Amino acid sequence: MKALGIEGTAWNLSVAVVDEKDVLVQISDPYIPKVGGIHPREAAQHHAEKLPKIISKVFDLLSVEEIDLIAFSQGPGLGPCLRVVATAARLLALKLNVPLVGVNHCLAHLEIGRWKSGAKNPVTLYVSGGNSQVIARRGRRYRVFGETLDIGIGNAIDKLARYIGLPHPGGPKIEQLARNGSKYYSLPYIVKGMDLSFSGLVTAAQKMYDSGVKIEDIAFSFQETAFAMLTEVTERALAYLKNDEVLLVGGVGANLRLQEMLKTMCEERGAKFFAPPKEYMGDNGAMIAYTGLLMFRSGHSTKIEESYVKPDFRIEEVEITWL
Ligand code: ATP
Ligand code: FE2
Repeated sequence: MKALGIEGTAWNLSVAVVDEKDVLVQISDPYIPKVGGIHPREAAQHHAEKLPKIISKVFDLLSVEEIDLIAFSQGPGLGPCLRVVATAARLLALKLNVPLVGVNHCLAHLEIGRWKSGAKNPVTLYVSGGNSQVIARRGRRYRVFGETLDIGIGNAIDKLARYIGLPHPGGPKIEQLARNGSKYYSLPYIVKGMDLSFSGLVTAAQKMYDSGVKIEDIAFSFQETAFAMLTEVTERALAYLKNDEVLLVGGVGANLRLQEMLKTMCEERGAKFFAPPKEYMGDNGAMIAYTGLLMFRSGHSTKIEESYVKPDFRIEEVEITWL
């Protein structure tokens, strides 16, 4: 069975076709803001302009008849972007006369992470621009055990990066700078029970910049503090759930220092650390296609009249029928 998936909740417009065994095709065209951060309407315009070209490239590589279902990212995400993707997905499903499956974006990060890393029933740390959550399965639902109370860690990193004059997305550049930092400056470490907060950390790091601290040391201090917070909450969930697998997913998961900190924590606890290859960390079409396939094969599908976008879609809302 082959599923075509469309991802376009925010910066990356990506279309992929997967079957049960592998990712067969993936074509992406990211939106890169000229100045500042992601502008929702500009991103949506980018997606609307590029999507037809990407879809026709996909059908240069595969025939239309091979596609058994259309999956799309239904939310959470930026409203204008979600509407472009949903409209295209509905049109394709109607035109090809195949079922439609609306996929939760967070769930898709998690499921492709499990698929491409081999983790079975992990505690998942999902870290991206918009989200920072610790998730584990409880019966027929994924539950969020802890999450950010304000902004996602990726958004926090991007804000700091912009402030110190780096282009969007700041994550990879901050990681590089941090490697050359050596002096640790104390920054606000905010963990409340299982939840986290990053905005105070950003403000404090911005003040450090204003006072003339070297950007390498700011990046280093920022990463050490934020990633220690994330590692602490993940460890607490692991202990509470008596689990022994940790899975890292989401765009920020590409960060090698974060991976290293989680690995060390896992080694100390006798747990195993899992992460998918980098190409499946950040937003990608394959994660939507694959999760759509899992869902469809276990009984899910989305009627056209129920395919409205869900900008605040939570992972808990989806019943797990495929495990
Ligand atoms: P979501 O809707 O899941 O929040 P998203 O739109 O933020 O997704 P992702 O691709 O999952 O998209 O994550 C993008 C984020 O990942 C950006 O904030 C980016 O700066 C960050 N990022 C990418 N690479 C790195 C890295 N090496 N280190 C830290 N952050 C990174
Ligand atoms: Fe994402």
